[in-house]
Amino acid sequence: MKDIDKSKEQLLNELFGLRDEVRSLKLSVIDLKLVKNELKEKKMLYQAIMNLIPSPVAIVFKKDLNFASWNNLFLKRFNIDEEFVKNNKILALLSDRAGRKINEALSSTKPPDKLDIHYVGNNGNETKFKVNIKSVLYNGRKSFLLLFNEEILNKEEEININLEKKIQKQNVELKKVVDQLQKEIIERMQAEENLQSSFDKLSRVLEEVVNALASSVEKRDPYTYGHQQMVTQLACLIATEMGLPENQIEGIRIAGSVHDIGKITVPAEILSKPGRLTEIEFMLIKEHPKAGYDILKGIEFPWKVANFVLQHHERMDGSGYPQHLSGNNILLESRILSVADVVEAMSNHRPYRPAWGLNKALDEIRKNKGILYDPDVVDTCLAIFKNEKFQFSI
Ligand SMILES: [Fe+2]
Repeated sequence: MKDIDKSKEQLLNELFGLRDEVRSLKLSVIDLKLVKNELKEKKMLYQAIMNLIPSPVAIVFKKDLNFASWNNLFLKRFNIDEEFVKNNKILALLSDRAGRKINEALSSTKPPDKLDIHYVGNNGNETKFKVNIKSVLYNGRKSFLLLFNEEILNKEEEININLEKKIQKQNVELKKVVDQLQKEIIERMQAEENLQSSFDKLSRVLEEVVNALASSVEKRDPYTYGHQQMVTQLACLIATEMGLPENQIEGIRIAGSVHDIGKITVPAEILSKPGRLTEIEFMLIKEHPKAGYDILKGIEFPWKVANFVLQHHERMDGSGYPQHLSGNNILLESRILSVADVVEAMSNHRPYRPAWGLNKALDEIRKNKGILYDPDVVDTCLAIFKNEKFQFSI
């Protein structure tokens, strides 16, 4: 009986012992939970502190330079996400040059406290960072805490670098524009040269046409030999003295050279007939301005040459022919030609009369100044002869 009691007591003791052990295990589980919670809180606190640091911060393991930890600013500044840092080493973030530099620094036996690196962003902009390096233990592994300080002073440098890049880009574009412009200028100059050459060619053709026309009338009418040329010379001098522009004078020169071209339609016998003309013969001769107009109107001169010729026998008071125009209705070029024509015709001999001489010719225009002839043209012509600026060569 005594033995049985003893066994009971022993069993109870064992039971109590087991109970205590269970109790202490329960306590350990509770402790573990507490520790776990504490650890979790510490981790959150640690991350919160990391995020409070006003610079990009990352912790990398010394062994493989994989990311161990980082703050939000680090992700933001380098424009990356959690996925990137979880799957990449820090070297993936940097250019080859900066990567080599940081790799060398962190694998050396005595890593530096600070390191300058150049970071090139996706937009090509370059930023200089001063990286603070601190050796730390992270989860018991040797690691480095890297704190990235963007060099504020070098902002200016960054701006300069970016500005220089922009200028280089603009220079390239500018060069393209200049090259294009030069090409266009050369093409335009070439076109102008061609145009000038065509114009010169056309002028020569016109000159030849005018010469051919002028000589055709003079061959049939030897008494007016040189008449057209002398009228042209005098008319051009009057125009020059009146201060007319060169281009207008050129029109007068062309028209003067052919102003009697219409006479090729008048029978040669009438043109070379000595003595007085009959009324019918004179009427035929009076047709020559209109005939000249008809010949010349088909040629595209840069001046109204056909009209200048048509009106060279018109008079200021309307007594001329063929249209009986008066005053300023008669073209200035024709008013000049008419005065030169009369002065030359009267100065030299004609088949039907001897030469009246220059003085008589000048008397005629002086007397009829403002009546038959343009007063300004007459004054200019009289001044030319008074000052002996001109004399008829035949
Ligand atoms: Fe005439």
